[in-house]
Amino acid sequence: MVYGAILAGGTGSRMGAEIPKQFLPLEDGRPILIRTLEVFLKCSQIGHIMLAVHAEWMNHTRKLLSEWAPAPPVAVTCLSGGADRNETMRCILEEMNRLCAAPDSILVTHDGVRPFVTVDLLERSIAAARQYGAAIAAVPAVDTIAQSEDGQTVGGLLDRSKLIQVQTPQTFQFGLLRQMYRQTDARQLAKMTDAGAVCVAQGQPVYLVTGSRLNFKITTPEDLKLANRINGVLSED
Ligand code: CTP
Repeated sequence: MVYGAILAGGTGSRMGAEIPKQFLPLEDGRPILIRTLEVFLKCSQIGHIMLAVHAEWMNHTRKLLSEWAPAPPVAVTCLSGGADRNETMRCILEEMNRLCAAPDSILVTHDGVRPFVTVDLLERSIAAARQYGAAIAAVPAVDTIAQSEDGQTVGGLLDRSKLIQVQTPQTFQFGLLRQMYRQTDARQLAKMTDAGAVCVAQGQPVYLVTGSRLNFKITTPEDLKLANRINGVLSED
């Protein structure tokens, strides 16, 4: 069985909107989270989709589901996320335990604010996780990336040819990911941004799946403008 988990428990502080960015509507009226969910619903391999949201946004999310996905082809359930992204991942793993998911189940995790993920990318990610246990989407870095200690001067430049930008989906064999989180204590976890990092820290090989520059994370108001343009073009296709 393949489970999907969409992470939408953040507050979107960098967006600075009145509501968390995942609930903001695109110009066609669809909330970003719903645009993301719709791609998951089109992926026929996924048999159950979990939406992890902040407890205070649970009712709002349920209302959105009844409006935008009243009769989904698979179960779509909500759960409360945690204080940071990795705590939300822990909540998802707990929910998988509660659902008695088999250790060899596949768990496709994805940021709710990356609505331009494709079914093709989800399927390649699932196939890679089946084969290798852990797979994350990434794209080669196109900008040169520098380090700066003071935020004002360049400290050092990194070799761009070796740099990749990590995205989601991040897909795992459930038993393996559960083990990785069990082996990582809360202090270590607080320093890590995502499940891929948890696996790497535990020495678990993580396979790279080619992502897409369109699969960007909507973070700032500028990103939202860009997302609306892209959404308009994709809807015409
Ligand atoms: N996320 C989550 N639970 C958290 C924090 C983040 O599920 N406690 C999710 C976000 O909702 C988002 C994804 O992780 O879909 C990527 O995080 P990010 O873009 O950093 O979202 P926010 O934390 O909401 O944004 P910001 O850092 O600007 O506050």
